[in-house]
Amino acid sequence: MASFKRQTGKKYSAKAFALFVFFCGITCVKADDGYRLWLRYEQLTKQSLTAYRERIKSIAVQGQSATFDAIRRELSSGCAGLLGTPIVVGDRAGASVVVGLPQTSPLIRKLRWTTDLKRLGPEGYRIRTVKERNRTVVVIASSTDVGALYGAFHFLRLLQTETRINDLFIDQKPDLKLRILDHWDNLDGSIERGYAGKSLWNWAELPKHIDPRLIDYARANASIGVNGAALNNVNANAQILTPEYLAKVAAIANVFRPYGIRVYLSARFSAPIEIGKLSTADPLDQTVIKWWIAKTDEIYKLIPDFGGFLVKANSEGQPGPRTYNRTHADGANMLAAAVAPHKGIVIWRAFVYDNKPGYDRAGAAYENLQPFDGKFAPNVLQVKNGPIDFQPREPFHPLFGAMPKTQMMPEFQITQEYLGFSNHLVFLASMWREFLSSDTFTAGRDSRVAQVVDGTLFRQRLTGIAGVANTGSDRNWTGHDMLQANWYAFGRLAWSVYSSPEQIAEEWIRMTLTHDSNAVGKIMKMMLGSHEAVVDYMTPLGLHHLFWGGHHYGPAPWWDTEKRDDWNPVYYHKADAFGIGFDRTKSGSNTVSQYHFPLREEFSDIDRCPEEFLLWFHHVSWDHKMKSGRTLWDELALHYQRGVDWVRETRADWATLAGKIDEERYTAIGKKLAIQERDAVWWRDACLLYFQTFSKKPLPEGVEKPAHTLAEYKAKALEW
Ligand code: GCU
Repeated sequence: MASFKRQTGKKYSAKAFALFVFFCGITCVKADDGYRLWLRYEQLTKQSLTAYRERIKSIAVQGQSATFDAIRRELSSGCAGLLGTPIVVGDRAGASVVVGLPQTSPLIRKLRWTTDLKRLGPEGYRIRTVKERNRTVVVIASSTDVGALYGAFHFLRLLQTETRINDLFIDQKPDLKLRILDHWDNLDGSIERGYAGKSLWNWAELPKHIDPRLIDYARANASIGVNGAALNNVNANAQILTPEYLAKVAAIANVFRPYGIRVYLSARFSAPIEIGKLSTADPLDQTVIKWWIAKTDEIYKLIPDFGGFLVKANSEGQPGPRTYNRTHADGANMLAAAVAPHKGIVIWRAFVYDNKPGYDRAGAAYENLQPFDGKFAPNVLQVKNGPIDFQPREPFHPLFGAMPKTQMMPEFQITQEYLGFSNHLVFLASMWREFLSSDTFTAGRDSRVAQVVDGTLFRQRLTGIAGVANTGSDRNWTGHDMLQANWYAFGRLAWSVYSSPEQIAEEWIRMTLTHDSNAVGKIMKMMLGSHEAVVDYMTPLGLHHLFWGGHHYGPAPWWDTEKRDDWNPVYYHKADAFGIGFDRTKSGSNTVSQYHFPLREEFSDIDRCPEEFLLWFHHVSWDHKMKSGRTLWDELALHYQRGVDWVRETRADWATLAGKIDEERYTAIGKKLAIQERDAVWWRDACLLYFQTFSKKPLPEGVEKPAHTLAEYKAKALEW
């Protein structure tokens, strides 16, 4: 839509616009470069068309604001495209779909929903089919403009997934308040751990020129309920806080505002020195305190709804309060005081780990931060889902459930730093579901991470979740068409933390790829099996961090040359003649003790520890008997093989989908799957050959012979 306007430079009526979309739909139905994400609005199948055309004759969007304009545009293009016929979108009474608020819509006022809508909160909405003077009307109502926008997107999703709309009875509100995408974007346009092109923020052209793509980014986010974007890398450049850059940030905020998205900035803790010319950044120094207050006031003058600061401090070389012998709480609270008068927040990252000899990195964040429970002002502590670093599989971070007086939000990594970049199909909703459903036992059985996060367990008021974005300037946004599903899933889970990967996958497929039920089933199977498969061919049975140093793409379990121990795979797997795995029990680092009773006892007991975490918590003999009756060595090898087999089966399944999906995306996804197979084989061979130098055992039956020698795998990194 944005680009349509840009090309014409004129304003068109809703009707003309709908006609344009309609004819465009007819002429360009074959080509699909993935740009439209899950908002494709292609004409639906015959069965649903008849029913929908009968129901949706005209739409009244009753409200005047930039957000209501966005609703009008979306419903107009969406319905015209899906129904294959122009739909009049105006604000007249008598329409078959009515969108509005009690104060803007006479019909909604008449329905007396004001109290209910208030109860649903500022982002909630109601969608109901009501009878009005012998007519059936679908009403989409909220107490705010943005709530109405979310409702409109929900309605479109019903159509896109061909759901019956005869008796709608929907009340929705988000489970979490903050639903934020963290962009690790640098000011030079590069993206740290970004695998889908350059940054979407064109700093050189801003604030004068606004890339229309920003509107499409905002639409996509609003459609899944994402309501915040932290624009710059957590390894922050202080320049973002200069007047020159703040004007650019304000221009982006102006684009996002109608879509309910607030901007946040990563703040470099030493900014008072770097751009403020102070001699210190000590959080208790008066000049520093004043500098941050003035800077914050300056930001809020430009961006009245600025979300707040995201801070990576004293982590991986970043400056922070501990540089001045102050605590994390001192640093976070100083910034929180600056943003508090503006109702902003500080999101303080818990990703801190010191480099002491003989320590266990998995326990570091807990050791550093848990003692400060209750000492953080109303900030939010942002904690990665696992205790190490976005590995293919980790147990949940022990800080969840360990800081009941602190507001905590999980941080997911949507971009696949450790999961095959934008080359491997991995549907991350399965991994996130596993994390959210983990039982912390913090208040007895059934104290799940989701309950810590949504505030039900500790009455946390400010709830939220963040995901490191996988978006970039690639035409299809995420590099791999299937990985759009992870952006989608992040938003859907952030809105509703109890939703299932199955439901999310099915919705996404129907909206994005195909309505053919057989094809939907096959693609769901691929998506839902993908996480376990990647764990199998990369890091099965609790192994972790076996990656080639620096870029983290292929395997390098032999890696031992980083200056920090804990950046070397050998530190994590500890393979030797006896066995493999990191002993985190009492006989080892004992960081298992950071988990609650009785979970820590379960993890500590080699016979009760879930096998998927066995080598995370234990150093296990190669001959250890696994539940299957096989030895650890055989089991490990068979897991690697199973991962490879999955990719091969998936490729074969994909081949049967020719003609069900447009040629362009079908071919592109097929090419990515071929890379995934090459890589899975490489992972299996490199890891098994290397571990075999310790186990000295033959590969079990059913595991293929490696294609190359270990020396060859060591000589050259896997290319992406
Ligand atoms: C990982 C990643 C870094 C990133 C860091 C973080 O270590 O490799 O690029 O900066 O996480 O989350 O801060």
